[in-house]
Amino acid sequence: MFKRLQEWMDARIPMTKTWNIHLAQYPAPKNFNFWYLFGVLAMLVLVNQILTGIWLTMNYVPTSDGAFASVEYIMRDVDYGWLLRYMHSTGASAFFIVVYLHMFRGMLYGSYQKPRELLWLFGMFIFLALMAEAFMGYLLPWGQMSYWGAQVIISLFGAIPGIGDDLTLWIRGDYVISGATLNRFFALHVIALPLVLVILVFLHIIALHEVGSNNPDGVPIKHPKGSIPDDEKPKFKFHERFTKKYDIADAIPFYPYYVVKDLVGIGIFLFLFCYVIFFNPEVGGFFLEPPNFEPANPLKTPPHIAPVWYFTPFYAILRAVPDKLFGVILMFASIVLLALLPWLDRCRVRSIRYRSALHKLNIAMFAVAFLVLGYLGTQPATPTSTMFARIFTFLYFAFFVLLFFYSKREKTKPVPERVTK
Ligand code: HEM
Repeated sequence: MFKRLQEWMDARIPMTKTWNIHLAQYPAPKNFNFWYLFGVLAMLVLVNQILTGIWLTMNYVPTSDGAFASVEYIMRDVDYGWLLRYMHSTGASAFFIVVYLHMFRGMLYGSYQKPRELLWLFGMFIFLALMAEAFMGYLLPWGQMSYWGAQVIISLFGAIPGIGDDLTLWIRGDYVISGATLNRFFALHVIALPLVLVILVFLHIIALHEVGSNNPDGVPIKHPKGSIPDDEKPKFKFHERFTKKYDIADAIPFYPYYVVKDLVGIGIFLFLFCYVIFFNPEVGGFFLEPPNFEPANPLKTPPHIAPVWYFTPFYAILRAVPDKLFGVILMFASIVLLALLPWLDRCRVRSIRYRSALHKLNIAMFAVAFLVLGYLGTQPATPTSTMFARIFTFLYFAFFVLLFFYSKREKTKPVPERVTK
């Protein structure tokens, strides 16, 4: 009966074929490590955000009079409303933790290099959409930090010469942040941007499966036909789409092997996720900021306005520059440079395992600069913290400039022909 249903479906939609190409007969390099978990976790968190978001929307009121009270209502009176809200607020931070680690993995193993440039660009568009999604979501509880955070960020557009003032007016839909702003942010947050995100993730996976996954060694698993002895070929059946032109070596089918491996990682992730939700949902004011427990008050500016932790590295770069326009330009440049990595890194070797000591040091410097800027962005601006922000902003940009120059003639280690271990 099941077989007949399957045949009926397959004659009308490529169900089994899709399953085989993308899962059961998809050759995944056999040496994936811990770092390869974060793509799957990002998908899991995306689903969590969409589902909990739909249920929150059922009781949320997107008006300046009703928003704050409706969130309190969800927390206190709606059955399991507190759980839905904490899953959503924790999910927002978890999303960025997972995506930052996912991107860093790409940098460690040179996954952005040819032929994965477009995959990386889709990733960067996902990152931009994710930032917009988080920013707009943050206005919705209509707390003090929602209001004043949005005020600071929207006013940045005012720095653009000529059109700045008109542009901020257009974004807000009013002369100040008001119910009109809240309403449009709600529309964008609950439908437009999630749709964009889902479409981009779909394209991201299609692009990945077209070129195939990279791996911690950064060497291909596709080899010219006839170059792999028969006894060294994997004993698994891979889809002819992958085997028609190449010999595949050192690969295992994604399903069931990596599905089972990922389930272990998902279990550990959910353990940590539940710990935060049930025991520490505010995480010391990092996941939910204290001023946001007060309703938005346009007449009272909080003493210290700071965005949520995941924006703070970029916020620190913005604040490090005295001129507003130049600060905005530098902040955008810090993201654009990440998108340009496939072209800034001119080395033929992908994985950090076989690259020079200079490159290892440079990546370490980038990671430290990013973390320190993230910390500085959470702190009030003092002369000392501004000085440090300038030093680490310089180091952040130095990473890209240095990479461009040394990568062309880098002294790399011998790269193995085949995936190791
Ligand atoms: C919603 C966010 C995202 C989701 C759901 C997602 C999903 C995935 C999945 C499932 C994979 C395959 C498994 C893995 O290699 O971990 C993957 C690979 C990859 N992703 Fe993402 N991704 C997201 C964001 C990003 C971002 C922001 C970037 C970088 C700008 C990025 C760059 C890459 C690259 C380069 C690979 C291939 C890695 C390799 O084969 O070594 N992704 N992504």
